[in-house]
Amino acid sequence: MKRMLSGIKPTGKLTLGNYIGAIRQFVTYQDEYEMFVFIANMHAITVPENPSELKKNTKDLIALYIACGLDPEKVTLFLQSDVHEHAELGWMLTCHTYMGELQRMTQYKDKVAKGETSLTAGLFTYPSLMAADILLYDADYVPVGVDQKQHVELTRDLAERFNHRYGETFVVPTPVVAKVGAKVYSLSDPTKKMSKSENDDKSTIYLLDDPKAARKKIMSAVTDSVGIIQYDPENQPGLANLLTIHSCLSGESIESIVSRYEGKGYGELKKEIGDTVEKFLTDLQARYKEIVASGICEKVLADGKEKAQAIAFKKVRKVKKKLGFQLFN
Ligand code: AMP
Ligand code: TRP
Repeated sequence: MKRMLSGIKPTGKLTLGNYIGAIRQFVTYQDEYEMFVFIANMHAITVPENPSELKKNTKDLIALYIACGLDPEKVTLFLQSDVHEHAELGWMLTCHTYMGELQRMTQYKDKVAKGETSLTAGLFTYPSLMAADILLYDADYVPVGVDQKQHVELTRDLAERFNHRYGETFVVPTPVVAKVGAKVYSLSDPTKKMSKSENDDKSTIYLLDDPKAARKKIMSAVTDSVGIIQYDPENQPGLANLLTIHSCLSGESIESIVSRYEGKGYGELKKEIGDTVEKFLTDLQARYKEIVASGICEKVLADGKEKAQAIAFKKVRKVKKKLGFQLFN
């Protein structure tokens, strides 16, 4: 069975974008692959984080992973900081990453271009840590949103570089980006990504939003003045985004939704999408509450840690040998 691995940072509250672009994919793949899904809390501290918020977001994330349909019996769910090999291999790979490669990473470049100051060295080198997250487990596939594809490509380069220099050590991973809904856009500015860190609350639907309030956000989503229901992301990005959300949550193809709405107005379509989102969140939150109340998260993480660490330990031992760290056999 091929291996698949992915992770999400526990910064901010999870959004519908995270679900559609990432978690939903993990759920569909869990039967097909040997899955590893982790909480990237070491990545969370690349920017200033409030410890009690980080704790709350991390607990929510694990419960939401399970509520979204990840089955702890099938998937190894774990917390990154529980497996110290991430930091260890992260450093070893940082020492094999060129400054120029990191400087080319769009996420970093965007922050610099925006004039953000006080950027940490951790934020700059985090793609090397991400490479370690992936290479520790010999992951064949890494499902991510489009914004993360570049980091998986860097991971491939690092794996190839290392293998070339020291002999076969790492599996070279392949990024997997969903076709529909790889990127969910902001409801108030559909040219921007729907993001956790959005200040304007109307633009983002959070998985733990009050379902009725979420419905309202859909109703007030920005569309256009064309007035025709069709899928045209370039000229009608707001509408295309709503159609994508609807299709991903309901399972109905965009084509089929569009044909049902031929000659009808945006308001009617928005109502249906609002209902879909409301129902989705209501069901999800009921499961989330059950999971939190059951107290299973601690056990899931403890089991996940054990499984993940057994694999990570062996990989780091191998890398140390290659680097000349192991002195006696
Ligand atoms: P982040 O919230 O940036 O930590 O992202 C966690 C995962 O969710 C990554 O795989 C992202 O690519 C994905 N993701 C985040 N926001 C969106 C979005 N608006 N649309 C699609 N995928 C997203
Ligand atoms: N960097 C990813 C993000 O910001 C999270 C992440 C960390 C990740 N390590 C990973 C994703 C390994 C996939 C594989 O969303």
